[in-house]
Amino acid sequence: MDILIVNGPNLRYLGVRQPEIYGTQGMDAVPALVASVMGEDAAKVQLQFFQSNSEGALIDRLEQAWQDKVAGIVINPGAYTHTSLALADCLAWIGIPYVEVHLSNVAARDSIRHRSLTAPRAVGTLAGFGVLGYALAVRALWQALQP
Ligand code: DQA
Repeated sequence: MDILIVNGPNLRYLGVRQPEIYGTQGMDAVPALVASVMGEDAAKVQLQFFQSNSEGALIDRLEQAWQDKVAGIVINPGAYTHTSLALADCLAWIGIPYVEVHLSNVAARDSIRHRSLTAPRAVGTLAGFGVLGYALAVRALWQALQP
């Protein structure tokens, strides 16, 4: 099963950017976390990774995932979560099941971060677990996609 993990703006320097909010681990920790969370099922998922600071590039990559018939998407849209109708529209029309991830617990932060334009169509949302959230999301998505 192909699962695409997408990060939006300001998530390239994960582990370095405001570690007191976003944690000290980078995306390089994710494959080992997925292996540990998935156990013997880890071999059944193939992960692809993409990050961009640009809204258009994110949409282009999601459209590519649709063309490639990727089974599921784990996405942290960063600040576009709260602002991008374009990204929400794209996730709606491509129809690929996705889990939304936030490193920080956005519900405990400033109120502008409480609203997500992208979450309503997600299978579910994980927030507040740092990069472990990506691995938990892969696990949850894999389970949701079982026949
Ligand atoms: C974030 C939360 C967003 O509000 C913020 O703009 C980000 C990161 C998170 O992972 O906690 O860039 O998506």
